[in-house]
Amino acid sequence: MEKKDVNWSSLGFSYIPVDYRFVAHWKDGKWDEGHITSDSTVTISESAGVLQYAQTCFEGLKVYTTKDGSIVAFRPDMNARRMQDSAERLIMPKVPEEMFLRALDEVVKANAAWVPPYGSGATLYIRPFLFGSGPVIGVAPAPEYEFRLFATPVGPYFKGGIKPLRIMVSDYDRAAPHGTGHIKAGLNYAMSLYPIEHAHKAGFSENMYLDAATRTYVEETGGANFLFVKKDGNLVTPKSGTILPSITRRSLVQVAKDYLGLDVEERPVTFDEVKDFSEVGLCGTAAVISPVGSITFNGGEIRVPSGMDEMGPVLTKLRETLTGIQMGDIKAPEGWIRKIM
Ligand code: PLP
Ligand code: COI
Repeated sequence: MEKKDVNWSSLGFSYIPVDYRFVAHWKDGKWDEGHITSDSTVTISESAGVLQYAQTCFEGLKVYTTKDGSIVAFRPDMNARRMQDSAERLIMPKVPEEMFLRALDEVVKANAAWVPPYGSGATLYIRPFLFGSGPVIGVAPAPEYEFRLFATPVGPYFKGGIKPLRIMVSDYDRAAPHGTGHIKAGLNYAMSLYPIEHAHKAGFSENMYLDAATRTYVEETGGANFLFVKKDGNLVTPKSGTILPSITRRSLVQVAKDYLGLDVEERPVTFDEVKDFSEVGLCGTAAVISPVGSITFNGGEIRVPSGMDEMGPVLTKLRETLTGIQMGDIKAPEGWIRKIM
């Protein structure tokens, strides 16, 4: 099949409209079948729940070309289930897992020419999202909903690929106890724009958020969970009820244990202990594993021992193993890879 004329290796992480997307509507208590469309625009009521009260959630996953030319998705069932958890918390109808996966398959097949080739360093990013499309004026769940899923080819999320990042501890909080930090609600990202703008202007790539209740524990960044490597080479990752349950992080915990034989501690991590780790990384679909070289906080800077030149050895090994599994070079655990074509 003829691929689109795209310079795959120079792609960053930005929206490029492709030919087809999926749309389904929920009305009178049920979903329609949904269909593929070439229309990238959305027409909704001026009083739609999403526009007035931010009733929306989304997902993010990636599709890869493997060495043998297959096109595969990484654990999309986990995204389908997380989107159901988000929908429940925002009083939106759940998208059935069957429809979510069908939308994925249909969009990828229809846009096969947009799936970056094996070895190009790029992937097809998939953005499923769900929003209140029907009108509300009092604060209430919308009477109608739309589920969409589009695709866009992407390169690295952070400029410079896998060069260590400088991040800062934010003075703002990301998520309140008993709030919405554990779901992928659009509102969590709207409120992060102000602090990320501040961080970017100050020369940092991301914010490290601390727990809102005590400001002593590490939570996550605006778009990724944290991984820490101890001096003995084993892994620590923050456990908190107010961070997004990253599918990448949960996968890496299993990869670290089963493929690399590492010990993994999933537990609350205080900011105080961060200075004692030998490597720090961010993990997520977009971030994959991105190394952190420096963390600036009120009153100082932590220079991570792995430095500002390259990713440390443990995170490098983890990244290689994860991407090897995703690209089909390393045998995946049962059920992790969905072959689309
Ligand atoms: N944390 C936040 C706030 C995110 O937006 C994301 C991205 O999806 C992640 C973590 C990583 O999650 P995942 O690995 O499922 O992409
Ligand atoms: C992802 O990793 O898929 C996300 O949704 C993170 C987002 C900040 C781009």
